[in-house]
Amino acid sequence: MDEVWETQAAWWQARFTRGVDAEYTEQILPMLAARLAGAGTVVDVGCGEGQVSRPVAAAGSVVVGVDGSAAQLVEAVGRGGGAHYVRGLATGLPLRQGSADAVVLCLVVEHVADLSALVGEVARVLRPGGSALVVMNHPLLHSPDSCWVDDWGPDGEAECYWRVGPYLPEAVLDEEVDPGVVVRFWHRPLSAYVNSFAAQGLLVTEMVEPAPPQDFQVVLSDPAMAATVPRLLLLALRKV
Ligand SMILES: C[S@@+](CC[C@H](N)C(=O)[O-])C[C@H]1O[C@@H](n2cnc3c(N)ncnc32)[C@H](O)[C@@H]1O
Repeated sequence: MDEVWETQAAWWQARFTRGVDAEYTEQILPMLAARLAGAGTVVDVGCGEGQVSRPVAAAGSVVVGVDGSAAQLVEAVGRGGGAHYVRGLATGLPLRQGSADAVVLCLVVEHVADLSALVGEVARVLRPGGSALVVMNHPLLHSPDSCWVDDWGPDGEAECYWRVGPYLPEAVLDEEVDPGVVVRFWHRPLSAYVNSFAAQGLLVTEMVEPAPPQDFQVVLSDPAMAATVPRLLLLALRKV
């Protein structure tokens, strides 16, 4: 596992948790809560400081959060909320076969090097008929060198767009997401994810591509265009 999650856990917690990130408050957490309502045992793989685990536990599920980072888990336990936490790797979950009704992977798959080991573990711990919810940065729009481009036509009119970098080849990116914080991302085309899940009997039942939150749209030069380009992708899967 990338050491950054241990050394920079406080950075992640300050920048993305406790309601400071609109993608979580307006999109990710409501999307997951709606789809996990009534689930019995939920395993939150790569749970971080527990911002997904806590509301799901509060809604009545038994939640086990698993993370490889001790610094994230110390914070998760400190923040309380009724979920159980255990240290472990996504590629070797410390859980019994068929023990979960649902598995959540929230902004985790793009940080794990061995996709097939990760997917194999999700399939192993899910009971038949159980579901997996995967939230990731949209692979098409977060391919290497993808970015928002401000351009201007010959008459000075705005021609703003989202540039898509090399999408099909898999790639490893060490991205400086904040000064001094380098996070490793594994870029894979969407087909690599869907086919890897399908090979383990995890079939897509729903796909969501939400428009970015308002806060994100307004900082770009063409908010109407920005509203048409999703940053996130949710896949709901069912184990056959
Ligand atoms: C971007 S954070 C997301 C945290 C949490 N899912 C959330 O949405 O708030 C990624 C988390 O995945 C964990 N992680 C990354 N690679 C992992 C691995 N191979 N095994 C277990 N945890 C991992 C990190 O420690 C970190 O807490």
